[in-house]
Amino acid sequence: MKLAFFSSLVFLLSTPDFSTAAEESKSLKPCTIRSPTTDRFFNLNPIRREPPEEGKKAKEGEEGSWHAKGHDYGANFTINFCGPVVEELTHVVDLSKDYWKNVSAFYERDGEQYAIGLENSEPVFRGRKLVLNYTGGSLCPSKSSLHSHEAPSEDERRKTTVISLLCESDPLAKTSISFVAAVDDCVYFFEGRSPFACGGVEAETQALSPGGVFGVIVLIAVLVYLIGGCVYQRTVMHQRGWRQLPNYAMWAGIGRFVMDMFIILTSSCARFLPSRRGYSRVSLGHENGRRGRRNDDENRLIDNLDEEWDD
Ligand SMILES: *[C@@H]1O[C@H](CO)[C@@H](O)[C@H](O)[C@H]1NC(C)=O
Ligand SMILES: *[C@@H]1O[C@H](CO)[C@@H](O)[C@H](O)[C@H]1NC(C)=O
Ligand SMILES: *[C@@H]1O[C@H](CO)[C@@H](O)[C@H](O)[C@H]1NC(C)=O
Repeated sequence: MKLAFFSSLVFLLSTPDFSTAAEESKSLKPCTIRSPTTDRFFNLNPIRREPPEEGKKAKEGEEGSWHAKGHDYGANFTINFCGPVVEELTHVVDLSKDYWKNVSAFYERDGEQYAIGLENSEPVFRGRKLVLNYTGGSLCPSKSSLHSHEAPSEDERRKTTVISLLCESDPLAKTSISFVAAVDDCVYFFEGRSPFACGGVEAETQALSPGGVFGVIVLIAVLVYLIGGCVYQRTVMHQRGWRQLPNYAMWAGIGRFVMDMFIILTSSCARFLPSRRGYSRVSLGHENGRRGRRNDDENRLIDNLDEEWDD
């Protein structure tokens, strides 16, 4: 019996946290990654711009997605991290309308919107470099369009974006993104700087929270007390039944005290409950019976307290 109890306890303590912790680390939350070289944990979710909540205005300076000046490219870029841009796209060139809400980076030129990548929430590490890429944007300008007699190639290339993320160690520094280069109007390189690209320790890696550790210690202490106390009362003091529980008299006294306090509180609260008035008027006949019982409780309590004072 005791063996079964012990093995079930061991089972309880071992299953929920310790074994799943290892599995969880493999399936990370979206937009998070652990560096393979330094074991630091990176969470880019805080720099993902979200549309303002219904009826609320976005925080000053945080309206819309992130912007990067195009300089000599002749267009400015609008980009979000790990999610689609906040702005609603209305006329994207060479991209199925189903994907317009998935576009994570785009630019506008001559009144047309060009997507340069669809959302991707899986950053990767290339050595020590944190990289996020978006693929599947608008079609790249194809060479075959210059020689229109050639059939368009089957695997048309789509605009792609690669963002290299750098750690901005000044915690007051703002996140920023700047345009580095575009190759053949097809592949776009950016450099992002952010305090969130510096990594940190992952809060969730600990299998048990400090509170959980404390709880386990308390549980073990209570078990040792109960089992050790039982063994002592049984073998040394030769007690049987409930009396073999350790410090039976003390616990029984505490139990009685708690019961009495409960009775006092409930009976005095019941007296002040306004809703009781209507009820008691209807059940006037029972009033005496109820009062009698309450008096009984109070008398018993006073007797108990007297007993305890005598002890
Ligand atoms: C890009 O943005 C800058 C200001 O941020 C503006 O002066 C410039 O005209 C924009 N360029 C294009 C092509 O829209
Ligand atoms: C596009 O977004 C929808 C939800 O907004 C999502 O269910 C779908 O998987 C996304 N598609 C791609 C290719 O990311
Ligand atoms: C783009 O990111 C995916 C994961 O999100 C990765 O598998 C792929 O190698 C990356 N491609 C490039 C060109 O960086």
